[in-house]
Amino acid sequence: MKIAIILGTRPEIIKMSPIIRECEKQGIEYYILHTGQHYSYEMDKIFFEQLKLPQAKYNLDVGSGKHGEQTAKMLAGIEEILVKDRPDVILVQGDTNTVLAGTLAASKLQIKIGHVEAGLRSFDRTMPEETNRVIADHTSDYLFASTETSKRYLLNEGIPKEKIFVTGNTVVDAAYQNLEISKYETNILTKLSIEEKKYIVATVHRAENVDSKERLSGILNAFSHIYKEFGLPIIFPIHPRTAKMIGEFGLKFPEGTRLIKPLGYLEFLQLESSARLILTDSGGVQEESCIFRIPCVTLRDNTERPETVEVGANLVAGAGEKIIEYARKMMESDCEWENPYGKGNAAELTIQNTVTG
Ligand code: UD1
Ligand code: UDP
Repeated sequence: MKIAIILGTRPEIIKMSPIIRECEKQGIEYYILHTGQHYSYEMDKIFFEQLKLPQAKYNLDVGSGKHGEQTAKMLAGIEEILVKDRPDVILVQGDTNTVLAGTLAASKLQIKIGHVEAGLRSFDRTMPEETNRVIADHTSDYLFASTETSKRYLLNEGIPKEKIFVTGNTVVDAAYQNLEISKYETNILTKLSIEEKKYIVATVHRAENVDSKERLSGILNAFSHIYKEFGLPIIFPIHPRTAKMIGEFGLKFPEGTRLIKPLGYLEFLQLESSARLILTDSGGVQEESCIFRIPCVTLRDNTERPETVEVGANLVAGAGEKIIEYARKMMESDCEWENPYGKGNAAELTIQNTVTG
């Protein structure tokens, strides 16, 4: 059995890391194919270094571009590699353009496909990620769903139950494997001169938020109100896409919002797990805040992580004034919810089911 692990962005590197470790542990033949969708040091290499991952055997270096252009370059590059170094199965994770290209290439070559984090649905087709998820799920042979909710969505779309495995989410494996390490390898709180539970963490990068001046201004305006009301600094490690758009729109950062470079995973885990509140439009950050029992307000109109809302860990606020109201509510949370994303053995279950087919 030979597995090709196809990845290309920050969250894919993080969420695939437990699967890579599992392949190493079980002595399974595998290689990493990196599309190069993310390439800046702090969006890419830092995670390979911190998570001690082997280098990618192939890197397509596709870089940034319009959806069609970027996906087309990946599709051509992945196909070429899969033909010359044919695996029995490819594994992709999530809903990026890398996932779309990987599943399309493998599907046409009749190579088996395993989709990690299958069955997420926002039911919002304006999101590029929703298109990517649906296509990935419908071309996959093994669908590794994080929860029973995801499994239900897949069954409702007519995907045979034999193809679906509820494994939990590898985000839990990664968080458990690295949180302790992060505590002695780094001290980001000291570096930023902040104290436990006396700051808020924010991340924003979704196209629908950062490519719209109105939504991005609405979010920054809410940050300003939250700072004035609670007096807690908002630590904002900024995604390069957001930095670029704030520059293009000529927006100013409100008082109390501390802009910093994107952090390494170990630093970010530490920052998240000691925060008073998290404000985010990130999928992975919604999940991690739920795992660490830190209340979360989601800066979107919907979420494909409904489990976080159901357990009381998250409120979906959009990009306007509701952010302030929901921040107030979540600040009062007792944070007693259970993590719905599994026990931290998702990678083991994924590899087990990939190998046995
Ligand atoms: C992509 C995914 C998104 C995921 C996110 C994780 C798609 C359609 N989107 O969004 O689902 O949540 O990754 O972070 O696949 N840039 C850099 N350096 C980098 C990468 C990007 O400067 O290493 C800048 C470039 O200006 C680029 C922009 O960020 O144009 C957007 O990058 P892109 O990969 O297209 O999308 P993301 O917004 O990162
Ligand atoms: N993350 C990180 N440094 C940061 C911000 C986020 O390491 O400065 C990690 C975070 O812990 C999570 C992942 O990046 O595991 C989420 O990635 P992102 O928000 O880019 O994408 P999404 O999950 O929305 O697809």
